[in-house]
Amino acid sequence: MQIQNESPYIVHVFVCTNDRGGERKSCADNNSQLVKDQLKKAVDGKGWKGKVRVSTSGCMGVCGEGPNVMIYPQKLWFSRVSPDDVDAVLSVIERLMSEA
Ligand code: FES
Repeated sequence: MQIQNESPYIVHVFVCTNDRGGERKSCADNNSQLVKDQLKKAVDGKGWKGKVRVSTSGCMGVCGEGPNVMIYPQKLWFSRVSPDDVDAVLSVIERLMSEA
């Protein structure tokens, strides 16, 4: 039998890194893995380990708008995110952490 618990994270960031190899649009077409790596490094640098988690996600169904970054449980979505946008996403996470 499964166990149900609340998320242990205040902010859980999912970065879609789905890669269709160019056959159809996918988030990996535009450096989503680099976005994820940079976000993870930035979050680690803030000392939020155990409070903010950056995870890879599979396709979230809005591939044409990728790279997509989703933040839960706050239900925020960022689309067309480039590595240059990581600081802006981090600022939002910082605000969410200050409000927690
Ligand atoms: S490939 Fe990222 S949302 Fe579909």
